[in-house]
Amino acid sequence: GTIDFGVLKPYMSFLLKGIYVTLLFTIVSAAFGFIWGAVLSLFKLSNIPPLRWFSTVYTSIFRGTPLLLQLLLLFYAIPQLFHYNIPPLLAAGLAFGLNSAAYLSETIRGGILAVDKGQREASLALGIPYRTMMISIIMPQAIKNILPALVNECVALVKESSLVSVIGVADLLRRSNIVQADTYRALEPLLFIGAIYYVLVLVLTSLARLLERRMRRSD
Ligand code: ARG
Repeated sequence: GTIDFGVLKPYMSFLLKGIYVTLLFTIVSAAFGFIWGAVLSLFKLSNIPPLRWFSTVYTSIFRGTPLLLQLLLLFYAIPQLFHYNIPPLLAAGLAFGLNSAAYLSETIRGGILAVDKGQREASLALGIPYRTMMISIIMPQAIKNILPALVNECVALVKESSLVSVIGVADLLRRSNIVQADTYRALEPLLFIGAIYYVLVLVLTSLARLLERRMRRSD
């Protein structure tokens, strides 16, 4: 009945490798989610009704059902429908990217609407095409405004990434489970990876605070 972190010694490098898997997975799904989320946000602001409907329904469905369910659906439905055994890491990156895009599209849309309308008027007056205006003038300012929210999304992804252990991705939580099965000890590996998640989130949030302070100075 005592806590003995010594039992983790033989498993140290095995557990620490989970940091790499968790971070890699988070970065890939954040990047994919951001790009797809940006496209969806433009759909939401478009004057083409089907694009608006699509992105609204999309967001509603991905925010209205559990992420874990979406992950399992992708992982098991693709082999059933297309006879393609999707690798767990790919299924996980897709599910998390698609899900994150739903949340990010709302954030980015808000950021775009918050950009001063003079920017838009000036671009129109200069005859800059809509696409160029959106991508080169409006988007960069929108992203700057929502940077703190983007960091929050990354924090959410780091923590939610532990769900991927259910389809066998060797992330931190999965590795902790394996060590538990090997040592008959649950507390030590769980506390250990819990501390790692916490440090990862702390690093992210202090990075965000630094960014925010620097941006305020440049304003
Ligand atoms: N826990 C939520 C769910 O089960 C997912 C939240 C994802 N949040 C986010 N900002 N990406 O559906």
